[in-house]
Amino acid sequence: MAGSLRAVVVGAGMIGAVHAAAIRATGADLAGVVASTPERGARAAEEWGLPARYPDLDAVLADDSVQVVHVCTPNALHVGQAEAALRAGKHVVCEKPLATAVTDAERLTRLAERTGLVLAVPFVYRYHPLVREIRARRLRGEFGAWQLLHGSYLQDWMLSEDAVSWRVDPRDGGPSRAFADIGSHWCDLVEWVAGIRFTELTARLDTTIASRPTGTGASFASAGTGPRAEVRTEDVATVLLRTDDGVPGTLTVSQVSAGRKNRLWFELDGADGSAVFDQENPETAWLGAQDGARLIVRDPGHGSAEQRRLSRLPAGHAQGYADCFTSFVADAYAAIRGEDPEGLPTGADGLRAARIVEAVLTSAASLAWTDVDETPRTMEALA
Ligand SMILES: NC(=O)c1ccc[n+]([C@@H]2O[C@H](COP(=O)([O-])OP(=O)(O)OC[C@H]3O[C@@H](n4cnc5c(N)ncnc54)[C@H](O)[C@@H]3O)[C@@H](O)[C@H]2O)c1
Repeated sequence: MAGSLRAVVVGAGMIGAVHAAAIRATGADLAGVVASTPERGARAAEEWGLPARYPDLDAVLADDSVQVVHVCTPNALHVGQAEAALRAGKHVVCEKPLATAVTDAERLTRLAERTGLVLAVPFVYRYHPLVREIRARRLRGEFGAWQLLHGSYLQDWMLSEDAVSWRVDPRDGGPSRAFADIGSHWCDLVEWVAGIRFTELTARLDTTIASRPTGTGASFASAGTGPRAEVRTEDVATVLLRTDDGVPGTLTVSQVSAGRKNRLWFELDGADGSAVFDQENPETAWLGAQDGARLIVRDPGHGSAEQRRLSRLPAGHAQGYADCFTSFVADAYAAIRGEDPEGLPTGADGLRAARIVEAVLTSAASLAWTDVDETPRTMEALA
């Protein structure tokens, strides 16, 4: 029963609040929140209507009544916090990127496997019902052999040269910014929907705004006033990809495209048909054929079983990102109860993303085609 699970959110920023709402929406017990200081934690607890139970993560880990820890902090903190929670016997929902280095992602994934605890990673775009519909049609063979896979993930929240965020500094965000933050979502989604693996790629990373104010800033679009520093993470990534079967792909990633907010868009072109999904318009999907094209509409009364399962509202009453989160948390908790929900993104998917990010960084440094290296690096991964 989801209602019997007790969870704590670590990190009270933008996505922490989304997790908190999703936990409550599943009927589970949101027991508390941990922030960067006990004072901030107490403030967040009050805002979220909770008692201020936990001054820090250690207090959560010492509480035997807590079964699940949601890690919603800046990227560089994920590994340490998720590892501590797993070692304390807690199931973990860890925000992406699971880790900013492949070896750390391997260690975490292996630890979860060894302990039998669930480690789920919110690649939540998998939970749009029409994403599931396109995947179901691919599984039925509707599109034929892939000819080309392409798309983009565009945002504009870093367009101002005064925009700051902890994401800009590699010490907090990791060595890749735009690609690791949002390009990783696109790769996870397209690999999962199309049923392919990108095995090699060549990438260019560009920092279009050379300096920004220092300071961590809030999650999105804070204007900094501190002294300016050179930016060492990319605003734009352009990537050519090839799948294990030699299918070409292209991906454009940007955090500086005016008017684009979370425009994750993909087109999958097959021998017998094409499919398009646009995250900013998730209630319809475009299906192309040589003799015409049509829009399909999310509808719990029609379509694949997974589309119906994840349709939380009647057709025509728009559902979106927050519903994806609720469905994702519900599936993560189902996995904790021993079920095997379809398409739950786990530590293995977080590790896969870390490997793709590493290949992008390697290729951007060498300007060469680079394999996505699946070779285990650590003793933990080999054990
Ligand atoms: N899956 C998704 O769709 C999605 C969307 C947005 C963000 N994210 C991920 O979520 C994470 C957080 O992003 P955000 O947008 O919420 O950032 P944010 O800046 O809004 O929130 C991060 C919070 O963590 C707090 N924090 C810092 N150090 C802490 C510590 N030691 N202990 C507890 N809390 C601490 C900060 O004070 C801040 O409130 C990032 O890793 C990001 O990649 C994922």
